[in-house]
Amino acid sequence: MMRRSLFILISLLLSLAHSVAETVTIKATKKYLNIPVSHAVQREVIEIAVEGRKERSFEIRLAPENPDYWVFCDISTFRGKTLDISFPSPGNGLSQIYQSDEIAGQDSLYSEENRPQFHFSSRRGWNNDPNGLVYFEGEYHLFYQHNPYEREWGNMHWGHAVSKDLIHWEELPVALYPDEHGTVFSGSVVIDYPNSAGFNKGNSPAMVALYTADSPDRQVQCVAYSTDRGRTWSKYAHNPVIDSKEKWNSKDTRDPKVFWYEPDKKWVMVLNERDGHSIYNSTDLKEWTYKSHVTGFWECPELFELPVDNDASDKKWVMYGASGTYMIGSFNGEEFVPESGKHYYTSGSGYAGQTFNNIPKSDGRRIQISWGRIPSGDMPFNMLMLMPAELTLRTTGKGVRMFGYPVEETNLLTDKSRKWEDLGAEEANRVINEFKDESLLRIRFTLSLSHATDAGLDLDGQSLLNYDMNFNTVNGIFYSPDEMTSMELSADIFIDKTSVEIFIDNGAYSCSFGKKTPDRKQGFNFRGNNIRIKNLELSTLRSIWK
Ligand code: FRU
Repeated sequence: MMRRSLFILISLLLSLAHSVAETVTIKATKKYLNIPVSHAVQREVIEIAVEGRKERSFEIRLAPENPDYWVFCDISTFRGKTLDISFPSPGNGLSQIYQSDEIAGQDSLYSEENRPQFHFSSRRGWNNDPNGLVYFEGEYHLFYQHNPYEREWGNMHWGHAVSKDLIHWEELPVALYPDEHGTVFSGSVVIDYPNSAGFNKGNSPAMVALYTADSPDRQVQCVAYSTDRGRTWSKYAHNPVIDSKEKWNSKDTRDPKVFWYEPDKKWVMVLNERDGHSIYNSTDLKEWTYKSHVTGFWECPELFELPVDNDASDKKWVMYGASGTYMIGSFNGEEFVPESGKHYYTSGSGYAGQTFNNIPKSDGRRIQISWGRIPSGDMPFNMLMLMPAELTLRTTGKGVRMFGYPVEETNLLTDKSRKWEDLGAEEANRVINEFKDESLLRIRFTLSLSHATDAGLDLDGQSLLNYDMNFNTVNGIFYSPDEMTSMELSADIFIDKTSVEIFIDNGAYSCSFGKKTPDRKQGFNFRGNNIRIKNLELSTLRSIWK
């Protein structure tokens, strides 16, 4: 009995000792806290209190000794204040944390070994879905699912970057931090021109974000707004605005995509709820009314109208989910009625693609950015965004289909180009291998088959393109040119440090994947019996970071 009580007492004391975190106290004088990370230790919660009030709290693998890499926490808004930084079992982790006006590794930022050179990736940490894509006052905004404190998924925040041309991005401070409702999952941003939510400042419309707050128990929809072009954000005081877990008997209710529906002058939200996409309506972005539901989709809903073959008098609506598979149909502001589908236009690394809100009417394009699930190896950052693509609807032999093709601004990447009209494989291989040491390349050509059933292009032993005319596949996925007796296929291939994006027949089909270099010596290889390579164009590309 005695021994048992003693044992209980000792266990109690031990667990108490464990739960008392160590704390360091500093005065914030610089922009960043640089924090060491080691994947040899488990995640634990670090807390930062400002003048005694808990301001930040997140999971981190605080390196007790030698860090694998460093991440940073922006403390610029706490300047002059006292910070208490606490961690349960820090080893020497807390004492290694230091303040600076530069992030650790600033010198080599964007020239790290596996840094994508013309795809966006965050400076540090992990990124997944693009969020809140919106054009406003000369800037394209890219918010994104972001773990600032580790190269793996977790601690979801909204990262933020802006661009004037969709190609060159500048990363800004984190836009949305987790709060008492949970971490910040995917969502969208609208510009509230009518001041329907009442957040506008003078004549300047607010940017309003609708996003999912995720907690262990539920996912709810919340509102935040900015009146300084997205630089700082406030959370709406009466969040959440939708809590639909009970209605669906499911935790999976997330990723609101909101847009302005001009015919009824109201806001429409597409929200993934359990087994499909629901439609909600609102006049003030705060009160939402459920209208309808289309089953068969998972995560990251999208819904938008596009002209068919550029004909403004013939428009259709497209609804898709995270994988990009879509339905074509009609929409009256309350209900989407599918007419055909599901179809696909892309495969591979792309996921959770979102399209921009508020693109000026004079432009009129439907521009999409997707998350590229392409790992970055042992870097202090991970994953990337695929190139912005313009989505269009076109009549094909199979019916109306969606195409996705890089926006014309991607031409800004071109450094030097050379062209050839009609080459055999041997000659094509000779000219293309003059470029084999270039790491950023665009390769355009039409592959023409006569004797081959199987043809394509390899790089360093990795197949970039494989067209199997017998099985009708491109890189393993069913594809047949629109003209079914055609023996030709056109390809537009973008090669970055870690990724390859391929667009077939002007975007009828595309795929993206990680670039491997099993054998650097092999270079390029066009292969296939008696193939011709027509209109071969090779362009070296520029980094967007220099
Ligand atoms: C899709 C997704 C979303 C969610 C987010 C969380 O990749 O699972 O449904 O909001 O990522 O990071």
